[in-house]
Amino acid sequence: SAAEKAGYASFMLKEIAEQPKAVADTLLGRIDGFGTLSLDEVRIPPEALREADKVVIVACGTAFHAGLIAKYAIEHWTRIPCEVELASEFRYRDPILDQQTLVIAVSQSGETMDTLMALRHAREQGARVLAICNTNGSTIPRESDAVLYTHAGPEVAVASTKAFLTQLVACYLVALYLAQVRGTKYGDEIRAVVRDLSSIAGSVERVLGAMGPVRELARTLAHKDTVLFLGRHVGYPVALEGALKLKELAYMHAEGFAAGELKHGPIALVEDGLPVVVVVPSPRGRSVLHDKIVSNIQEIRARGARTIVIAEDGDEEVTPYADHLIRVPPTPTLLQPLVATVPLQVFACELATARGNEVDQPRNLAKSVTVE
Ligand code: G6P
Repeated sequence: SAAEKAGYASFMLKEIAEQPKAVADTLLGRIDGFGTLSLDEVRIPPEALREADKVVIVACGTAFHAGLIAKYAIEHWTRIPCEVELASEFRYRDPILDQQTLVIAVSQSGETMDTLMALRHAREQGARVLAICNTNGSTIPRESDAVLYTHAGPEVAVASTKAFLTQLVACYLVALYLAQVRGTKYGDEIRAVVRDLSSIAGSVERVLGAMGPVRELARTLAHKDTVLFLGRHVGYPVALEGALKLKELAYMHAEGFAAGELKHGPIALVEDGLPVVVVVPSPRGRSVLHDKIVSNIQEIRARGARTIVIAEDGDEEVTPYADHLIRVPPTPTLLQPLVATVPLQVFACELATARGNEVDQPRNLAKSVTVE
């Protein structure tokens, strides 16, 4: 009903706006003032977490993209090898699992059948399963060894937004917790990330406050057939998520690519006026990554692409090559998906509306897919 939408035109817009709170709620009570993490719902004994020699993340749809991002954080902070797989593929390829494998099942609803079947298969092989889930008491957490709940609150719109951001937060928390338990990263480093995480809700709020030009841009692209998305490192899954949102909501052909793969195929698609969204990492820190993507932007623009660049405030290197510039607050690269995804959600939602689509209930899609 209109009342439930609290004045927003759609549940999706309401849920996009709720993201700062969802992120803050998911962090709440899990980090103390000294940067130590306590995840009460993680009921896998610390010894087992110390002995784990592999992490495998299984999920579907948007939750899978959260998993792809988690891999970068887990491997960087804990040095445990991490694989991420679509739940529907994992189950049928006879994956190698044992008691030392920590499987993380990510699911908003906790009822996705492919993810449930993947976790059952993992447990049959002796692996321990941690669920990251938004729905209390749903099947996936009930069948897992442990659960870390995301506190996004009920998500009604079919396309996932606030649940995704909280899945990312939960994945970062698990990665940091593993690092803490295993002693791979101590005090200072964990504290620095924790500090960055605690200010992230404010950054998401700032992004939301500056979405006017993104909406305007989306409306001008409503007649296009295709939009491409490019990213590197964690920006690559962000590109995949941006493309998924556009397919789900605007029913447009959209593809996300790793920017480094451009020259191996996708660049052949670039023609005059093709909108290409590029997710640019922070120029601070890993500047190699930044330099590489700046040259990718030049490459596609030289071939006629209309470049839509998502870059950090103060990053002036990208300015000459951006037909449209979307600014996000300075954020360490690993955490940047929390701010960089938001304009892509707004972009897809506005484009869908401009094309006359019903954003909360896209055709042919279901909020939770309980069949295999
Ligand atoms: C459906 C929804 C997606 C969601 C996916 C996984 O396809 O439309 O938005 O990402 O299922 O759902 P889950 O509840 O497991 O996160």
